Amino acid sequence: MNRAVVLGCGAYLPAKIVTNDDLSARIDTTDEWIQQRTGIRQRHIAADGELTSDLALAACRKALARSGVSTDEIDLIILATTTPDNTFPATATKVQGALGVTRGMAFDIQAVCSGFIYALSVADNMLKLGQATTALVIGAEVFSRILDWEDRGTCVLFGDGAGAMVLRAAPPVADDARGVLSTHLFSDGAHYNALYVDGGPGRNGLAGHVRMDGKEVYRHAVNLMATAVETAAAANDMTLDQIDWLVPHQANIRIIDSIRRRLGVDENRVVITVQSQANTSAATIPLALAAAQDDNRLRPGNIVALTALGGGFTWGAALIRW
Ligand code: UT7
Repeated sequence: MNRAVVLGCGAYLPAKIVTNDDLSARIDTTDEWIQQRTGIRQRHIAADGELTSDLALAACRKALARSGVSTDEIDLIILATTTPDNTFPATATKVQGALGVTRGMAFDIQAVCSGFIYALSVADNMLKLGQATTALVIGAEVFSRILDWEDRGTCVLFGDGAGAMVLRAAPPVADDARGVLSTHLFSDGAHYNALYVDGGPGRNGLAGHVRMDGKEVYRHAVNLMATAVETAAAANDMTLDQIDWLVPHQANIRIIDSIRRRLGVDENRVVITVQSQANTSAATIPLALAAAQDDNRLRPGNIVALTALGGGFTWGAALIRW
């Protein structure tokens, strides 16, 4: 079987920044509360008319430039999002069209905050089996459009953004070849009501707003994400101290810190963006990877562990030799 090798990542964040103080001028909250409970200081918010596809396209262009890959080489585009431009067609097809790609396939994946790991897993399997050769895997969200800006329990937590990754199928030349080592996906619909949107095209035709039992999500998040990373390491006969970089979903600094402690990963081996970007749902992991790639923290051969948990619940992990 082939191996899916990461060629490069790209990121895009909307220009507008909203600080905690900006929010406290509008709703009953404080910078202190938000920072203490979540670590978040600010978030980027898409401009009026700026859509998920616009963010995704900008991230894709950067990822392609970084990878030295041209658009005519792309034959698979998977976009993880909870905030598609339209109910259908898939936003991935809009990105495909904007890139001028006319072959292969493009589709969306919905696993909320775990979406990027789900999309990566599907792409990895398709590349491994030879169903595609060069893939764009994207996490992109305008989460601000589905927030209830009167609900201080949720609106302070999220932001908008997009990250993209280019992967190429390559024959495994050696056991220590670069590429995705394994992906591990899980879900448990018993928690459907812990984190959901109270609308939808099949329900009432309205997009609806995010509703969350924050404590319930918190209660499960650390254990499920840490266990997923342990599962990934065990599947590759690796010990946790072989992980060079932990890149977890960025929802809350306290959750990230608890996962890192449970796994015994050193503080300076965790990529953290939540302070400046907040929770961008499916985009947090590719945004964090792009940041760590751009400042040269990620080196070829590094073992990188990804993990996320989102509505459903869905969760998962991936291990990559960078
Ligand atoms: O991507 C995955 C999705 N989400 C997550 O991973 C989130 C997981 N959950 C969390 O991160 C935390 O549960 C939160 C950050 C959302 C909340 O932290 P918490 O320590 O669980 O606070 P809480 O919801 O229990 O609220 C504590 C107090 C409440 O006041 P009372 O009832 O004790 O008087 C809230 O009304 O804080 C109040 N509160 C706020 N106060 C100021 C809730 N939101 C705010 C706010 N500003 N923005």
